[in-house]
Amino acid sequence: MSGPNTSFDPKQVASLDATAVAAAVDSALAGIAAAGDLAALKEARLAHAGDRSPLALANREIGALPPAAKAEAGKRVGEARGRVAAALKERQEALELERDERVLVEESVDVTLPTDRRPLGARHPLTTVMERISDVFVAMGYEIVEGPEVEAEWINFDALNVPPDHPARTMQDTFWVQSNDSGVVLRTHTSPIQLRAMLERDLPIYVAAPGRVFRADDLDATHSPVFHQVEGLAVDRGITMGDLKGTLDHFAEAMFGDGIGTRMRPAYFPFTEPSAEVDLQCFVCRGSSVGDPDRPCRTCGSEGWIEWGGCGMVNPRVLRAAGIDPDEYRGFAFGMGVERTLMFRSGVTDMRDMVEGDARFTLAFGLEA
Ligand code: PHE
Repeated sequence: MSGPNTSFDPKQVASLDATAVAAAVDSALAGIAAAGDLAALKEARLAHAGDRSPLALANREIGALPPAAKAEAGKRVGEARGRVAAALKERQEALELERDERVLVEESVDVTLPTDRRPLGARHPLTTVMERISDVFVAMGYEIVEGPEVEAEWINFDALNVPPDHPARTMQDTFWVQSNDSGVVLRTHTSPIQLRAMLERDLPIYVAAPGRVFRADDLDATHSPVFHQVEGLAVDRGITMGDLKGTLDHFAEAMFGDGIGTRMRPAYFPFTEPSAEVDLQCFVCRGSSVGDPDRPCRTCGSEGWIEWGGCGMVNPRVLRAAGIDPDEYRGFAFGMGVERTLMFRSGVTDMRDMVEGDARFTLAFGLEA
């Protein structure tokens, strides 16, 4: 007799027997369900779906069967392996989800916990902007000088050509130390430093003086009783208003960017003659908003210019008060608001933020050197 053995019964191959296959599946499903984590599931996968698992071994037996028996056995084992694979997949997904949820909980950070690390501080932006201003003037050969905040009335006013009955004394609401006939004030501007520099230094003089000044104003969005100015003074032979203009333009460019210039508007200060207000070209619209109602500029109110400070040629009377011969020497001086400069540079809109000392304001400027 030859030919395929068609009467072969697959049940005779023990591992392909329906009961054995069903038992393998049951054991696989139980093992998979019992796997409590991904590592256990990996072992269950190896045991029940790996190369040496009962179902894989049974699968291998199929090849030895006569063709007529292959189909049924193949179907049975194939279905069994399919069920095990599906169960593995489902369990894998469930365990991964569980793990992800657990990780979220276990590895979450309680941001409200107190820390023992010392918070990094930051320097006040007014300090850094004054340093930057100082750098600009040092680069031009100026010296940085200081003067006392508690100042003699004579230096703050009289020697600067502001006589006792002069309206400028009441214009700059003065804080008097002790009584208002004590002769001692909190300086109302940095201009007394001009006089001190002229009294103390040899000619020629090129100095810049950033410092704190005081006026009896209420604190609001645009005023503060304590604020800062930077004074500049140059006294030399042959100084002209052109030198003043060039210096201010360079200062403006250094602080606000290339091409930002200044303009002078006639004004009056007792200690300079002639005197001018200094306007800064609007560094936002650069003048393009002027006369263009479609593109208004909030920074300059579509004026193209923003007020920055005062300036002028040192009044010969002030030179004389400091013992300098106005026929031989001339000078220029200027005084700019530092808060204004910071407001322009950094978009700070409320004066109070600069004086209240809230670290969150200062920290926003980072650790700028
Ligand atoms: N001291 C003036 C003020 O506080 C500004 C100024 C300084 C004007 C120097 C002219 C020259 O308003």
